[in-house]
Amino acid sequence: MTASTAIYVDGLHVNFSGFAAITNISMEIPYGQVRAIIGPNGAGKTTLLDVITGKTRPSSGEVFLDRSMDLARCDEASIARHGIRRKFQKPSVFEALSISQNLELAIRRGRGYGAMLRSWLTGAEREQVDAVIHRIGLDTDPGQRAGTLSHGQKQWLEIGMMLVADPKVLLLDEPVAGMSDHETARTAELIRSLKSDQRAVVVIEHDMEFVDRVADLVTVLHEGRVLGEGSMDSMRSDPRVIQVYLGR
Ligand SMILES: Nc1ncnc2c1ncn2[C@@H]1O[C@H](COP(=O)(O)OP(=O)(O)O)[C@@H](O)[C@H]1O
Ligand SMILES: [Mg+2]
Repeated sequence: MTASTAIYVDGLHVNFSGFAAITNISMEIPYGQVRAIIGPNGAGKTTLLDVITGKTRPSSGEVFLDRSMDLARCDEASIARHGIRRKFQKPSVFEALSISQNLELAIRRGRGYGAMLRSWLTGAEREQVDAVIHRIGLDTDPGQRAGTLSHGQKQWLEIGMMLVADPKVLLLDEPVAGMSDHETARTAELIRSLKSDQRAVVVIEHDMEFVDRVADLVTVLHEGRVLGEGSMDSMRSDPRVIQVYLGR
């Protein structure tokens, strides 16, 4: 693995009482990349994120953050504290709170114990919240109640709630499901803007036009194995990928 590897997976197996959900998956996700993970239902995509976030233990194989943190041996809370953040499919913003209150809450939750209870934000935290509101495109009215936002706007707010912690790795499970075309296009732009030298972004998605827009590299999973890896174009013309997924 190279110095710039964010997530390193080698020979990963996950069995659920005898059923092989993941079989011998190896991959490296470097900083500065948006990686898409695609494949039919049951391919093992969500299970892979579960392993990276410490929710599910591998049956065997290695999974590391940077070159140092053995994710197979860490609990979910410490993995999150070390900068791996995940967004589930369903937005879970606090609807009764405003856009900025949701972000303030998220930044306070990311603090150490004790400081978490302090209600006011430092100058730096305030700046961070403002920068994120701008980044997610919700700066027209930060006092707007989250419950009144569109589905797409709620998803952006939730991405913002991850961003205030300045995560190293962002994991997004089907971020554009249920979005309008316009919202999907804006989400693609937002996600492209999130990667940096200090950050990798992993996206699971079924919308291939969206994947084409956001992904630097695509990994195709099928029945728990890596079927192919490469550019969206090369995956599109791979006969095995067409057969099991794209050709449907
Ligand atoms: N907790 C679990 N117990 C038993 N089987 C599971 C569990 N989680 C996932 N599976 C199975 O593992 C396979 C991969 O699931 P999943 O990772 O959710 O696929 P994907 O996200 O690609 O649709 C599926 O066949 C699913 O039914
Ligand atoms: Mg899934």
